[in-house]
Amino acid sequence: MNILVTGGAGFIGSNFVRYILEEHDEFKVLNLDKLTYAGNLENLKEVEANQNYEFVCGDICNADLVSLLLRQHSISAVINFAAESHVDRSIAGAAEFVQTNVQGTLNLLDRAKEHGIDRFLQVSTDEVYGSLGDTGAFTESSPLQPHNPYSASKASADLLVHSYHHTFGMPVLITRCSNNYGPYQFPEKLIPLMISNAMEGKPLPVYGDGKNVRDWIHTLDHSKAIEAVLLNGKPGETYNIGSENEWANIDLVHRILELVGASEDLITFVKDRPGHDRRYAIDASKAKAELGWGPQIGFEDGLAETVNWYKQNQEWWQNIKAGGYQDYYRRHYLKERGIKD
Ligand code: NAD
Ligand code: TYD
Repeated sequence: MNILVTGGAGFIGSNFVRYILEEHDEFKVLNLDKLTYAGNLENLKEVEANQNYEFVCGDICNADLVSLLLRQHSISAVINFAAESHVDRSIAGAAEFVQTNVQGTLNLLDRAKEHGIDRFLQVSTDEVYGSLGDTGAFTESSPLQPHNPYSASKASADLLVHSYHHTFGMPVLITRCSNNYGPYQFPEKLIPLMISNAMEGKPLPVYGDGKNVRDWIHTLDHSKAIEAVLLNGKPGETYNIGSENEWANIDLVHRILELVGASEDLITFVKDRPGHDRRYAIDASKAKAELGWGPQIGFEDGLAETVNWYKQNQEWWQNIKAGGYQDYYRRHYLKERGIKD
């Protein structure tokens, strides 16, 4: 199978590319990535020399480029990871989120429709369902109620993807996964930010009362779910992916401090995120029943392994934190949330 992976230089995409190339000698992977602030070719060093892998720097919004790649590489499956992915950045400015997440997905759909394709897999998120109260979990039939510009742009893309199945019979698939963690996650997201700040002895900025709940899954389990959906998912269907692993942010931060061996005094409560979703929880029973997929990595092991990865790969995140990221951090945390560095 010749697969066009988009956004393969980001966190989840790069973990997926490494995984799928190792699992399937018969797959060829073409990675189209714009290399935004979140894209990093360091994440793909292990596969650079692989004969079945090729990288193209470019934008999913570029119609001519996408058409050319689909044709030249005889692509039969598209997996769309490319996105602006950070809620806080979407609150600071939503235009790029609409451009890449909505227009970019539409362009991929149109080009794939012209070309003819066997599979179009849209990598989406549980955040399209909005927020839960104290009980219950999102199922595939929960209503779409996105609350922030990021999740609104992802929900818009999902609706377009689904409409291309209904209207044109395109063989589309949608996955909606909960919060991922693991190696190579950009240090603006909760887990890598807290690990790296703890290692640097910097404040750990916890939003609001710290009691917002997220449902965490290892990115390798997510990759395996995407593989299962790609190979065995039913066209037109949506599959929730999650690990039944809910944590209040503050409890998770305490656990990270223990694993890093840093002081609890670093915890700093800061101004809450506007419109902060209270709780996410995923019911993944459909993927389990219909695809035989299930998460394999327990959180105790997965988190300890992830903390170790950040300990052993300090250069990777220090390079990021030393670059343009500093401006974001100053603006978002030091200025807006009053943290003393
Ligand atoms: P990321 O921000 O780490 O990576 C995004 C990648 O997309 C980067 O390599 C970036 O360069 C690329 N990109 C951005 N705009 C592009 C464009 N216009 N053209 C081509 N490439 C472009 O994101 P991630 O955390 O790896 O998330 C990947 C996907 O998974 C996203 O679609 C996201 O919505 C979804 N998702 C993420 C999570 C999570 O917890 N991180 C959970 C569920 C779903
Ligand atoms: P994040 O990793 O941004 O993922 P998402 O908002 O997409 O779920 O945030 C996870 C949770 O951690 C969320 O409830 C917001 C909270 N959070 C903090 O408390 N402090 C931080 O510095 C960050 C980045 C997030």
